Amino acid sequence: MQDSHGRTVDYLRLSVTDLCNYRCRYCMAPDGVEKRSHQEILSVEECVEIGAAAAACGVKKIRLTGGEPLVRRGILDICRGLRAIPELEELCLTTNGSLLPALALPLREAGVDRLNISLDTLLPDRFSSITRLGRLEEALAGIRAAEAAGFQNLKLDTVLIGGFNDDEIQDFVNLTVDHPWEIRFIELMPMGPCADWERDCFLPGQTVLQKVPALEKITSQGVARRYRLPGSAGTVGLISPLSRNFCGECRRIRVTADGKLKGCLHSRGEISLRGLHGAALETAVRKGILQKPRQHHLEDRPSDTPRNMNQIGG
Ligand code: GTP
Ligand code: 5AD
Ligand code: SF4
Repeated sequence: MQDSHGRTVDYLRLSVTDLCNYRCRYCMAPDGVEKRSHQEILSVEECVEIGAAAAACGVKKIRLTGGEPLVRRGILDICRGLRAIPELEELCLTTNGSLLPALALPLREAGVDRLNISLDTLLPDRFSSITRLGRLEEALAGIRAAEAAGFQNLKLDTVLIGGFNDDEIQDFVNLTVDHPWEIRFIELMPMGPCADWERDCFLPGQTVLQKVPALEKITSQGVARRYRLPGSAGTVGLISPLSRNFCGECRRIRVTADGKLKGCLHSRGEISLRGLHGAALETAVRKGILQKPRQHHLEDRPSDTPRNMNQIGG
């Protein structure tokens, strides 16, 4: 259905947990999140019910997010339940990749169509430093496992951080020569722990084109402007929420792991879906779509949401 600004909303990002086995410095505090009781987090049945209500309102694509969605108990049941919704065209999942060696094949069998995997650096020491708890080798093993399980059109998400990984831009782009992946550079958004980071950390997507002038523009897809090196197997995407705000084309709504519908990643407004079923649930989802704000205000101030990224799911 359309929101009140004429945008078609057909994409739900459903966060299934705010927990994560990493503690990325821009995303989470070092001591993580307080573990919540099971009752506070959506059950498997509620996740599927919310997915079905969203589908009844016109949602065609659901992406499972976290925290890290693969640490969620029952993740495969959630996938199977959502996949059984007839109107749903695509079920996707965004992960840090670390648990894919064990879960890639079961996810494929549970009906997940596509995976996006986060990878902020190709250097082992930097990887451990930015994730605080992760090892590069486990993320790379996850990518290999996803390919072995038959996942195609893999996208790797790299958050651009000035002074941290801007000297690796060419190395990331070079990965697309032989691999059919889309490497996507994402502008760091000022929220949670990185809201007060120095200005130099926030690089525009344009930096990638300056560092790699050989990139040629191809058709855009979703919110990413896309490029490719001539003759390469893969592509490069730029997601630029700050320097090239894409709110006018936004097709998303989000539901947090504690059951709050958010019209925008950066807005304060939330509608609780807990305890709602059937027609009442669908009405609440419609209300959330209608109340979707026109745009974020990151150009003027940090994100309005009091939540960290792990509590929304990107
Ligand atoms: P595709 O289905 O492959 O198009 O994936 P996607 O880009 O929708 O999902 P993914 O989880 O890979 O998101 C990529 C990144 O874009 C996230 O890491 C976020 O940082 C950022 N992002 C996602 N949604 C939004 C949004 O609505 N607004 C802004 N500003 N950034 C977003
Ligand atoms: N700005 C941009 N991307 C972010 N992510 C987490 N926090 C931020 C932020 N402040 C990304 C992660 C992952 C995805 C789910 O969101 O790196 O790729
Ligand atoms: Fe976990 Fe993703 Fe946040 Fe890193 S960015 S701490 S992997 S939720």
